[in-house]
Amino acid sequence: MLKPNTNYNNLKDSYLFYRISQKVAKYLDEHKGSRVLRLGIGDVSLPLCKTVIDALHKAVDDQANKSTFHGYMPECGADFFKKAVAGYYEKRGVKLLEDEVFVSSGASDELGDILDLFDKSDSVLVIEPAYPAYVDANVMVGREILHLSSGKENGFLPLPDESVKADLVYICSPNNPTGAVFDKQSLKKWVDWANARGAVILFDAAYEAFIEDDTLPHSIFQIDGARTCAIEICSLSKTAGFTGTRCGYTVIPKELERGGMNLNAMWVRNRTTKTNGVSYILQRGAAAVFTDEGLKEIYENIAIYKQNAKCIMAALDKLGIWYCGGKNAPYIWLKCPKGMSSWEFFDYLLDKAQIVGTPGEGFGSCGEGYFRFSTFGSVEDTKEAARRLVELLQDK
Ligand code: MLT
Repeated sequence: MLKPNTNYNNLKDSYLFYRISQKVAKYLDEHKGSRVLRLGIGDVSLPLCKTVIDALHKAVDDQANKSTFHGYMPECGADFFKKAVAGYYEKRGVKLLEDEVFVSSGASDELGDILDLFDKSDSVLVIEPAYPAYVDANVMVGREILHLSSGKENGFLPLPDESVKADLVYICSPNNPTGAVFDKQSLKKWVDWANARGAVILFDAAYEAFIEDDTLPHSIFQIDGARTCAIEICSLSKTAGFTGTRCGYTVIPKELERGGMNLNAMWVRNRTTKTNGVSYILQRGAAAVFTDEGLKEIYENIAIYKQNAKCIMAALDKLGIWYCGGKNAPYIWLKCPKGMSSWEFFDYLLDKAQIVGTPGEGFGSCGEGYFRFSTFGSVEDTKEAARRLVELLQDK
């Protein structure tokens, strides 16, 4: 008799962002015509930049001609795409072989799919508060999950010590949801811990393009020793507005081996079996991000999101509300006012000001009492949200 995967019984009823969208849909149904301002899920509001659009159009035209047409693409990525990504890393002083770069459909898929490389008995450490897909993807496979809480006292950047025993660890820096960023010395401590234990770091670099402080690492491969213990997963969703376009990349160094097996070679075997790659058209658009013109344009968009961050931070300053993030990351992480719980504050904001944010508790229990604003909304909505926040929360 067929047995379904009963690990699904161990998941929360619904995924965080799905639960939020259901709540908002219900509110809108009951309050038709309300202007709801969405500062919840980190979905971009600016269109793709011109250089990317031009490359996508050209690639569509290539597919119309016999001489430039492409059928199946190499499963691990087109040479032009891998070269573009390797060139981007080189600008940060990181040398990669092109075969260490794998194309993907984005980080959220890849952060779960990569688990295929590891045995179910390997434990995983999740540093919380954390992007909820880390936990859910591991619950689905029935893996033992260890939770490492962080808080204001360590700047949401906990370090490993001998008591931290796990085979895998997710590290997201700049962090979703707190916006905290590991500096090179702290990240080195995680790298040394992983090498000493034979653990593997799954480094989520989805927000690296938001780093302003040049002393902070954009990639774990800027840290000595990372090539023997880390896999980096990145996405163009936030870097270049690809949330609805879908393309990302994963870096697995050739030196990365565990139990006598080479993880780069294993991922080649996995991808060549489980995917037919990413379309020619998308890879052309994605490669254009890394041209000089493409980078200039995406940073112009990022500058607009950073203005949004300033606008929300100014409102929180005015209200005397504690927060972090917003500078090297597109998220602002704040303490809920008036002692409210995360979900109480969510309901309060939606009901009284029609603002949607993300309850901190959705990122792990230590996120209770906190709240996250995304800065990816439109400039108009963000300004209006800041205005409504002040109006609602200032002492009258
Ligand atoms: C978030 O809001 O945390 C992210 O946008 C969700 C995602 O990238 O899937």
